[in-house]
Amino acid sequence: MKVIGIHASPRKGANTATLVEKVLKGAADKGAETKLVELRKLDMKPCIGCDKCKENLGHCVQKDDLTPLMEEMATYDAIVLGTPIYWFHATAQFKTLVDRLYCYYGFEIDPETNDYKEILAFPPGKKVVFVTSRGDPEDKKDYDVFYNSLNDWLQVVGMALLASSMEFVHHYGSWNEKDAALKDADLVARAESVGASLA
Ligand SMILES: Cc1cc2nc3c(=O)[nH]c(=O)nc-3n(C[C@H](O)[C@H](O)[C@H](O)COP(=O)(O)O)c2cc1C
Repeated sequence: MKVIGIHASPRKGANTATLVEKVLKGAADKGAETKLVELRKLDMKPCIGCDKCKENLGHCVQKDDLTPLMEEMATYDAIVLGTPIYWFHATAQFKTLVDRLYCYYGFEIDPETNDYKEILAFPPGKKVVFVTSRGDPEDKKDYDVFYNSLNDWLQVVGMALLASSMEFVHHYGSWNEKDAALKDADLVARAESVGASLA
């Protein structure tokens, strides 16, 4: 069992990183092989919308640190994704990865029926744990766009959230303190237990 954790906080050692690490720890304690990737350290270029990937699915013309990472992600059994909430959505670092994974998504239109058929080139069936951290102490309707787009994206790249429903490890109310999640023993325990359930 191989589990990769990828977090998209620009902050070193902050809440999202801590919780992704705790999920990985839970999996590692059950014998999983784990790896942590911090997007903040990577050279990442945005999707340029050239659509060259549609002629060669799974291959993006942009060459940078996301090139080997996306290939590596495809080889893991489970993926732990983490992002802080920025303006009711994910960070730019997270969105850059999401957009670049578009290279695994293709479609064709049946010329007779005009039906739209998706072609999903990312290996399907991966379990996904999704970690967020936010300053806000509560959930609100304002975040629904994020949840809905995230769910659509995970389906499209062939990943399913753990426990089939919208299962997350959410951290609320950090008020921008970097170590707020670490001080929340229940949340840390939950992150480890979600990780253990992966392995
Ligand atoms: C640009 C920016 C936008 C933010 N937008 C939100 C927001 O919409 N809702 C919220 O609850 N917190 C927001 N925050 C606060 C972060 O989500 C919060 O500090 C989070 O715990 C950071 O995660 P980290 O510690 O892993 O970096 C924002 C912070 C920044 C810097």
